[in-house]
Parts: sequence; structure tokens; C-alpha cells
Amino acid sequence: MSRDTGSTSAGTWERVAHADEVPTDFPLAVTLVDGRRICLVRRHDEVFALEDRCPHRDFPLSGGDVVAGCLECPWHGARFDLRTGQCTQGPAEGDAIATYPVMQVNGVVLVGPVAAPSTGTAN
Ligand code: FES
Repeated sequence: MSRDTGSTSAGTWERVAHADEVPTDFPLAVTLVDGRRICLVRRHDEVFALEDRCPHRDFPLSGGDVVAGCLECPWHGARFDLRTGQCTQGPAEGDAIATYPVMQVNGVVLVGPVAAPSTGTAN
């Protein structure tokens, strides 16, 4: 699909895929206009967007599986929460990957500005 960007008061959104291109429980790798690689993952009716880079060894996550609400790194098994990017298991434990806000509008998936990785602390 053609890559468009649009702005709202909340920031810039980029069209990254048609909604029916995003498989269920398996990551789809896409590249943003600025070169950042991300994984899109459909879980039920929701689509998540996460950085396509494991902080353990900087390998791509896009060949991994979705396990228990997490994207599992295909290399050494670290798991990252689809919603927060927080590492929940494995050699990257304590690290987090960036997550992006996602909108689905008229069958198109749009990804918004990057969210800061969660520190895992709540106040
Ligand atoms: S590169 Fe992902 S767990 Fe090692």
C-alpha cells in the first residue's frame, strides 16, 4: 500500500498496512517512512505495533511467535508484552521495547508516534 502520513493534534500518524494484511497471532514486519522497523500483531480485534528489535542482541523480533499475550523473540526466547513492550521473560528481562499507538480506520492500519518504553514501575 502507499505510505501516507497525516497529522492530528496528537502527532503524526502513518498508514502502514491494510487491516486484512495483518495476521492473527503472528508478527508482520513493516518499515516506517523514516526507516524504523516495527512488528504489527493482531490479537483478537486489536492490532499492536512494537519495535522490531530485541534488546538482548539487537536481532529482529518479526520471526517470533505470539505466546500468552507477548511477542516471543525467535532467537533466545525473550518475551515482550504486546501492550506495554515490557520484557516478561528471558535474557532481555528488565528491558522494554518501544510500542506505538495504533488506529484502524476504514480497513487501514495507522501507526502513531513512538511511545516511551515502560519502566515497569507504577505510581
Ligand atoms: S536476541 Fe532476543 S532473546 Fe536473544
